[in-house]
Amino acid sequence: MALSDFPRHPLLFGPSPVHPLERLSAHLGGAQVWAKREDCNSGLAFGGNKTRKLEYLVPDALAQGATHLVSIGGVQSNHTRQVAAVAAKLGLQARLVQESWVNWPDAVNDRVGNILLSRIMGAHVELVEAGFGIGFKESWENALAEIRDAGGVPYPIPAGASDHRLGGLGFANWAFEVAQQEAELGVFFDTIVVCSVTGSTHAGMIAGFAALEEAMGRAGSGRHRRVLGIDASAKIAETRDQVERIARNTAALIGLGRELRADEITVLEGWAGDYYGIPVESTLEAMRLTGRLEGMIIDPVYEGKSMAGLIELVSTGQIARDSTVLYAHLGGQPAINAYSALFRS
Ligand SMILES: Cc1ncc(COP(=O)(O)O)c(C=O)c1O
Repeated sequence: MALSDFPRHPLLFGPSPVHPLERLSAHLGGAQVWAKREDCNSGLAFGGNKTRKLEYLVPDALAQGATHLVSIGGVQSNHTRQVAAVAAKLGLQARLVQESWVNWPDAVNDRVGNILLSRIMGAHVELVEAGFGIGFKESWENALAEIRDAGGVPYPIPAGASDHRLGGLGFANWAFEVAQQEAELGVFFDTIVVCSVTGSTHAGMIAGFAALEEAMGRAGSGRHRRVLGIDASAKIAETRDQVERIARNTAALIGLGRELRADEITVLEGWAGDYYGIPVESTLEAMRLTGRLEGMIIDPVYEGKSMAGLIELVSTGQIARDSTVLYAHLGGQPAINAYSALFRS
């Protein structure tokens, strides 16, 4: 089956915007940097990368007669907020298990930002004190069982929609969207920089660009590009495993017809700090710089870390000066409200 054979339920405005970051590029003094904006890809509760992934899960949920979308994430999960928005749009219920993934002491962490938006959209939000492990299984299975016992049909969506058969398709499609925009704009992005945690964003891109390369290669006009994942989980081995597994599964699913090569799967470490969800100095610097120079807002959990990676790679010339770089802005700004103390002075 090719990617175009999979049903897709439109949830986006259309192709997400692509634009140059001229002042940031001049400041870094190296490669030309552009952004593709998943943070404004949809009218559904500020959009983001999960909205794009969910375009491919929704037809499956509807085909199964789902009454509830059920998902899980941290208290400030962007993913669960996007599930809540999609459920609202479809007239389904959202059941969200929100775990304490991040030891972040902000007094309003469980009241503002993403969780506030999910509550406004009518999701059933359950705060669970336990982190990973038994607490995870119990709360998740209880949620599914409760819905079934009440006569409903739950559609389970794992964290980040990543460990799902269809989870990589949204960003495989993103690769083809980029190629279309390159043709319209007359540019070629030889380097893509993307934040990676649960893995299916980066993995989908890898599978999608491989499929694109095969298609272009056959037409004799293929050009080399690389996708650099920046780990924001501070668990690099897990992120690499996850990205590789999902990339290979997605490539097989869309009929790539060859194994992915090792050089197609690159996840870099160095900007996550010690913990998922806790910004470090380079994260805050990246947030300030991007805000000051471009008016572009990035968050302290994900995009601040991938932008810190881009800044270092471009300014040190590890991404070559003659490169044209596409920064995938994956959304996530609502969580900023739980980090206000960091910007008081
Ligand atoms: C804003 C933002 N950026 C990046 C990511 C990482 O994407 P993925 O989990 O698909 O690796 C996420 C979600 O985890 C996110 O919400």
